Amino acid sequence: QELQLNLEQIEKGGYEHFMLKEIHEQPNAISDTFRGRMLVDKGIIRMAGVDDNMERISNAKRIIIVACGTSWHAGLVAEYVFEEIARIPVEVEYASEFRYRNPVISENDVIIAISQSGETADTMAAIKLAKEKGAFAFGVCNVVGSSISRETHAGAYTHAGPEIGVASTKAFTTQITVLTLMALKLGKFKGTISNSDFHMYLQEMERIPDKVKTALESDAVVTKIAEIYKDAPNCLYLGRGYNFPVALEGALKLKEISYIHAEGYPAAEMKHGPIALIDEQMPVVVIATKKGHYEKVVSNIQEIKSRKGKIIGIVTQGDEEVRELADHVIEVPETIEALTPLLTTIPLQLLSYHIAVMLGKNVDQPRNLAKSVTVE
Ligand code: G6P
Repeated sequence: QELQLNLEQIEKGGYEHFMLKEIHEQPNAISDTFRGRMLVDKGIIRMAGVDDNMERISNAKRIIIVACGTSWHAGLVAEYVFEEIARIPVEVEYASEFRYRNPVISENDVIIAISQSGETADTMAAIKLAKEKGAFAFGVCNVVGSSISRETHAGAYTHAGPEIGVASTKAFTTQITVLTLMALKLGKFKGTISNSDFHMYLQEMERIPDKVKTALESDAVVTKIAEIYKDAPNCLYLGRGYNFPVALEGALKLKEISYIHAEGYPAAEMKHGPIALIDEQMPVVVIATKKGHYEKVVSNIQEIKSRKGKIIGIVTQGDEEVRELADHVIEVPETIEALTPLLTTIPLQLLSYHIAVMLGKNVDQPRNLAKSVTVE
């Protein structure tokens, strides 16, 4: 048994938990995912699964993304990215709903399955259904040779390495990385992105691993915030645009490992319900980075403040406006708006991690949850 324990210690690479190790692996995981694919100097992106099927994928009338859990959140980010860069309409579906709904699918559709494990039963069933109806199936999986990667016509792996913690972290950011590369590649082929923007994206993507490292330096600030709010029974997460799915993902992380009730919402939807919950007891995590709908999110923050909610702002380095209003701010480096989820996600992962540890929960194997759900 001692040997077993030591082995686990080694596998954790000096970290207390797999989740923490995997959070810190993200700079490398992201660069492993784009290495060899993104040739910045030449201005090209190579992805065999896309290159070999360019005609079919670029002519898609519609892309349907199917996934579950955290992978579904990566799909939501991809919806914004694909529509913006490649101008292809995207729908993002829970695989479990899609498969039983008799969905309208045609041969002009491309279905993208996102799955870390590549074994999720609902996602697998959704892919089979879409294939039967003639759609082209593309897989974004982490586990090489997994069932979904074999069932799809083509695919692109995330090269995140093994993810052990049940709460998904590096799989999420590498899924976003792969899907962004794919959108850029399609956009370039279709001419929906200018050459200069394409280059700007590639150059900025190359800087992301270092910026993730900087975002990880928020650990000390995040730990202090975790200490203050660890006993809160509820928590709200708000974001807009590209960061709306990040709000959902932040809330999911907190639920999964700390068992605190948390909800993610698009910031502007707050007035249609969640605002009723806000009082001096309610921590509200607001993603308010400088790009995008900054001013609108700032006015949401003002609304929370006037109801005495506790505001934890995820902001761009050097931000002053939110700092004045919020109870706490966590800074992340500046980047292109479409790439902000890769940075804003980091402190939210850390926040859930620290709260769960402080509450004495089993971070790597939370109750009732499984790493891969191979049954319905
Ligand atoms: C389970 C895991 C989640 C994961 C989801 C989808 O619920 O606990 O972390 O996001 O399944 O898994 P997949 O392997 O398909 O990405």
